Amino acid sequence: MKVLGIETSCDETAAAVVADGRTVISQVIASQIATHERFGGVVPEVASRQHIETVTRVVEQALREAGMNWGDLDGIAVTCGPGLLGALLVGVSAAKGYALATGLPLVGVHHIAGHVAAACLANDVSFPALALVVSGGHTEILEVDALFRFTKLGGTKDDAAGEAYDKVARLVGLTYPGGPKVDKLAQTGNPEAYAFPRAFLEEDNFDFSFSGLKSAVANEVAKRRQRGETIRIADVCASFQQAVIDVLVEKIARAVHTTGRRVVVLAGGVAANHGLRTALAARAAVDGFILHVPPLTLCTDNAAMIAAAGTFLLRAGVRHNLSLNAHATLSLGDWQAGRV
Ligand code: KG4
Ligand code: ZN
Repeated sequence: MKVLGIETSCDETAAAVVADGRTVISQVIASQIATHERFGGVVPEVASRQHIETVTRVVEQALREAGMNWGDLDGIAVTCGPGLLGALLVGVSAAKGYALATGLPLVGVHHIAGHVAAACLANDVSFPALALVVSGGHTEILEVDALFRFTKLGGTKDDAAGEAYDKVARLVGLTYPGGPKVDKLAQTGNPEAYAFPRAFLEEDNFDFSFSGLKSAVANEVAKRRQRGETIRIADVCASFQQAVIDVLVEKIARAVHTTGRRVVVLAGGVAANHGLRTALAARAAVDGFILHVPPLTLCTDNAAMIAAAGTFLLRAGVRHNLSLNAHATLSLGDWQAGRV
């Protein structure tokens, strides 16, 4: 089964062809980072316009690189939420247009379901499982039953983990998106140089909070600058990252013990973080749970993960018609109930 995936929820215009939900045949990502970098973050209106200019070329390139025509495909999957509304609309409209023109079945995919499917592209994931979703817009622990039936155990009360990375990066003068740069610098810094807070660590829930951590970093940097002290940016990055990792690892390990589920899937852009991957793998070995991480190239937004998720849904008989819409704040519950 060959499925075309389209993803335009934020600042990547992406298309990919995936076979049987397992093999990436082609994948094209037109990143808008260069456009948004000078603004320090994604400008929604600019993102929408760039998606419009790029989406058909990206889809055509994905088909060309796969050596396929429309007749070789079995379905079209597109991110229908959550994300930037104008950006999502471009992908959804394009997918509906292609479905109408080709007669191929269409399925709208929740962005988080896509991120979870990224881990399934490289690994034999058995369900039930738990998912630790850490991206620029989400930080959540989910129970995943049969593939794509999700129950939320907890999530962030304020900033997402990736958002905290990007904000801390900006504080220490690194450009957007800061996550990968903080990750790299953290590898050369001392994680114990600064004692940053670990919010909710002692609390008996699966919730997170990262805005206090970000403020603590801001205060520390401002205080030292005021005193004329030199700040080792690598130490700030390493200490910040350690605080994030400590909380994420502890909470997902606790979720394993509480639910009895022994399979954990790591998902989202922050899943590319080297420190987090290493720390989680170490904890999995000690606590005896199975950890599945996506390949590095499939952690941040891409369309292969949407095609993979779409394949499982199409196989299960899920179809959406041309009334499929884009939803900026789509919940997993609404999506699962077909309210799209
Ligand atoms: O999943 P994603 O591409 O977009 C959303 O759905 O939000 O995640 C992007 C986020 C950004 O905040 C980016 O800084 C962060 O993931 N990120 C990282 C790393 N690579 C990307 N954060 C920490 N370490 C990384 N290596
Ligand atoms: Zn994402």
